[in-house]
Amino acid sequence: MTITSNPRKVDEVRKEVDRLNSETPTANQLMHGLTLVLNKEMLKYNWVGFYMLEPGADPPVLVLGHYQGAMTPHTRIPLNEGICGAAASGKTVVVDDVKSDPRYLACSLETKSEIVVPVFVRGKVAGELDIDSHFAAAFGDEDRELVEYCAQLVGKRLEKA
Ligand code: SME
Repeated sequence: MTITSNPRKVDEVRKEVDRLNSETPTANQLMHGLTLVLNKEMLKYNWVGFYMLEPGADPPVLVLGHYQGAMTPHTRIPLNEGICGAAASGKTVVVDDVKSDPRYLACSLETKSEIVVPVFVRGKVAGELDIDSHFAAAFGDEDRELVEYCAQLVGKRLEKA
């Protein structure tokens, strides 16, 4: 069973995210700020980070950007690997139990569930917002909406860059 986050808390965090979005001048600062807010305020979001597609790389590769949480060995992820690779197809991926997903690339032994949301720039995937939890099935509908909202803000900001 998914233990979804408290809707009131999600609302509060969304307001903080809106404030951050209006106060931060660059996409980079927005991404950094979002990792801080989500990791600090959402108690089950134990690792929060962005992977961005390396411009011009062939074959394409996701490169670790701003993140909060334990250091990860996965700083470059090809699109045929990991949950991150799967989400680069353009669909949010939620994994309730990472142990049972053969695609999963382990970042920390404590991770039990994960959500990866694509960041779109002008309709194309430009990167992803990846969140790991030490709790199984930590990402319910409320969480998915919040994380997709954050990814959209980054995409819009990158479109202006
Ligand atoms: N678990 C991810 C790799 C990134 S770490 O979680 C930070 C994956 O399976 O793609």
